[in-house]
Amino acid sequence: MATVKAAILGFGTVGQGIYNIVNERKEQLTKQTGQHIEIAAILVRDLEKARPDTPGVLVTDRFEDILTVPDLGIVFEAIVGEEPAGTYLERAIESGCHVVTANKVMYAKAGASLEALAREVRTGVGYEATVAGGVPVIKTIQNLNLANQVTGIQGILNGTSNFILTKMRKEECSFADALKEAQELGYAEADPTNDVSGFDAFCKLMILSALSFGEQPDWERVPMKGIDTLTLDEVIDADRQGLRYRHIADVRRDEDGRLRASVGPVLIGPDHPLYGIDGVDNAVAIETAYAGTLTVIGPGAGMYPTASVMVEDAAVLLNQPFRTLVTE
Ligand SMILES: NC(=O)c1ccc[n+]([C@@H]2O[C@H](COP(=O)([O-])OP(=O)(O)OC[C@H]3O[C@@H](n4cnc5c(N)ncnc54)[C@H](OP(=O)(O)O)[C@@H]3O)[C@@H](O)[C@H]2O)c1
Repeated sequence: MATVKAAILGFGTVGQGIYNIVNERKEQLTKQTGQHIEIAAILVRDLEKARPDTPGVLVTDRFEDILTVPDLGIVFEAIVGEEPAGTYLERAIESGCHVVTANKVMYAKAGASLEALAREVRTGVGYEATVAGGVPVIKTIQNLNLANQVTGIQGILNGTSNFILTKMRKEECSFADALKEAQELGYAEADPTNDVSGFDAFCKLMILSALSFGEQPDWERVPMKGIDTLTLDEVIDADRQGLRYRHIADVRRDEDGRLRASVGPVLIGPDHPLYGIDGVDNAVAIETAYAGTLTVIGPGAGMYPTASVMVEDAAVLLNQPFRTLVTE
């Protein structure tokens, strides 16, 4: 039985989830891929931080050490922010590794060039976890791309924003109080700017646009608003009329063939597929040429939802190395 060595970049919430699943699902993964996946190295920023034990695994703060692991075949990336994540993945691909990432900020910008590089050196890129955490939206669109066609996408792509809007509507509490509770429950970051300004949803929408339409709209021309622009009175008034505000990221091709995208609060009625999505869930309504509108719903974040789709991506790449490359 061949062994493929894997490295995890970042050992926080998602990185630890990957480590646990690869170990807990060892036999299943071996059966499904025909290879034994061994986590051989972990990259962190601070070696002094207390962490769960990882016996026999090299834990380092130097990326160079990762690339010297013999027979390294897969690199999971779960660090935060655009750089150095993008450069690390570029170097891993150049070294002949498959890469799997959860990093939407980096992938929205660097996804196309990483995929092009991977095509050149004949490795694969998995990025299911970059959009809507554990919801299999990338796989679904990749399948639709085979013979159907995506004509439009509307998504609730930020669980924190949806949680806050739900709480404002159901409990008539202020934006500030709802945000405070989201932070206490661990849904929102200590700095929630990317969530409540709409930027997090924007990055995810750009990834979905590249996958569905082979291109992204001009970033500067996409109107982007967060839920921080809504007042409690507006949310309550809408509810009294049987309507709901949802923070919706939308992209579609107009009749002139141009991509149109927007990110912001939208007032919708009970007929809309995203009307009933409450709390921290994410949901994506995918409009298609042949199958009408398909809506996928589920946990948009969290250790295991996110890590499990990353391990699935790795298993797909080991089975069908070039399966995830065709996005244009
Ligand atoms: N958490 C979720 O539910 C979720 C869902 C979907 C996508 N994501 C994405 O997944 C990624 C990881 O999120 P997370 O929640 O796991 O973050 P996290 O808990 O903050 O962990 C980040 C890890 O990355 C390490 N790190 C950060 N910068 C580094 C650098 N320059 N070099 C080496 N290591 C570095 C940190 O090292 P130290 O421990 O030494 O500080 C830490 O172990 C992010 O891109 C996030 O957007 C997360």
